Amino acid sequence: MSQYLKLVSALIVILAVYWSIFRTGQKLEELEEKWWGDSGAKSTENREITKTRIDVPSEVLRDLQQRLENTKPFHPSHTGVAQHYGITTTVLNSVLEHWRTKYNWTERQNYLNRYPQYFVQIRGLRIHFVHIKPQIQQGTKKILPLMLLHGWPSSFSEFYEVVPYLVTPQKDRDYVFELVIPSLPGFAFSQSSRKPGLSSVYIAQIFKDLMEVLGYQRYYVHGGDWGSTIAQHMAHRFQDRVIGLHSTMCFINSPRAMFMFFIGKYLPSLIYDNEEVKLCNSIANSLSFIISETGYFHLQATKPDTVGVALRDSPMGLAAYMLEKFSTLTNAAYRDRDDGGLTEKFTWDRLLDNIMIYWVTQSMTSAMRIYAEAFTNRNLEVGSFNSMRIDIPTGCARFPYELLVSPRSILKEKFQNLIHLTSFNTGGHFSALEEPKLLANDIYAFVNKVQQENVN
Ligand SMILES: *[C@@H]1O[C@H](CO)[C@@H](O)[C@H](O)[C@H]1NC(C)=O
Repeated sequence: MSQYLKLVSALIVILAVYWSIFRTGQKLEELEEKWWGDSGAKSTENREITKTRIDVPSEVLRDLQQRLENTKPFHPSHTGVAQHYGITTTVLNSVLEHWRTKYNWTERQNYLNRYPQYFVQIRGLRIHFVHIKPQIQQGTKKILPLMLLHGWPSSFSEFYEVVPYLVTPQKDRDYVFELVIPSLPGFAFSQSSRKPGLSSVYIAQIFKDLMEVLGYQRYYVHGGDWGSTIAQHMAHRFQDRVIGLHSTMCFINSPRAMFMFFIGKYLPSLIYDNEEVKLCNSIANSLSFIISETGYFHLQATKPDTVGVALRDSPMGLAAYMLEKFSTLTNAAYRDRDDGGLTEKFTWDRLLDNIMIYWVTQSMTSAMRIYAEAFTNRNLEVGSFNSMRIDIPTGCARFPYELLVSPRSILKEKFQNLIHLTSFNTGGHFSALEEPKLLANDIYAFVNKVQQENVN
């Protein structure tokens, strides 16, 4: 580890300890009933659901094409450093070439419109969501509602490859899923709040209402990244609604968890089961990785609007910022490759679909604010992310290249009813896009257990 990283690590540890001392034992406060429309006041709203589809105006596409054509040659990368100084010119040139000459929006828009999408007004904001009903004869199978929650820099489209696995009836199961995949407020086609404070606990409140509007009193929730945080808040605050919580990023950073994390670095056998040692000591779980790769986090948690100006003006700037995550968080070893390993598991088309969703909606600034909202003082209290205990059945899927992978001994502090815990050999942070079948099977395996428990 370089001197710089050592210094920053030491500082972070000290700050984290201080922070946790002052933050623990906080009582969970009542969740206020909040409204996010321009006035912020509670209003009677028409919660009528309207069908929509993506239809980007041709001016927006022409303007984008012009910007791509006018892109100046990229600043040459250092030799021999691959992605370690940030995204390389090799990656940028490939993306630009594909976007400019091969990416066909008409075709991609059709792809994104393959599943039905809707708008509904909730707590003052227009929320966009995909809603997919299984194709079965009524009464032949039980239908279980399942909400899928994305994170940053992702979008509802991350789940498109998982959908077929989840809505196709299977011979050996007496149930099939009905899916609701919302865009987080401020992301893609969901309206953003003009008032500060819409953090994940309040997004959870909005999505609880969304499910209510759709007529679901009881449902499953799955989430990754921020989607996991929101799903955890739903499971905690609305435990009479959520039947089971499944997540690809179960984590907790309480003082106890941090202490155990450090002990685990030196005495792994105290903290990890045998099968967990390799998983939890991966590069992506090391302190130096977390520090080297999370500068964006600090930036977005403090000054999202400033960097947002550049990202909404330059399509290649936006692509660079987002693709760095799809490279590094899919596999830390991709940092050593000049091409960033991006097309190992993904196609340029699918990566660009997600970038286009941010571009055409001009939503990067408002999306990045989710970090800042999480760290306002008020929300640290209301959220109490570390001190909450989740009692409903929980399943955690651990992919080896995920940003935060925790052992059972740490997870059980928060997840009191952890009935399903998987360790995969492959896959990273964007598992829905990268390993849709593995993820779908894990959701099934978890839901089987919960359904079984509910019968007995
Ligand atoms: C783009 O896709 C559409 C729809 O599939 C197709 O009709 C059109 O010919 C394609 N355009 C080009 C330039 O390939």
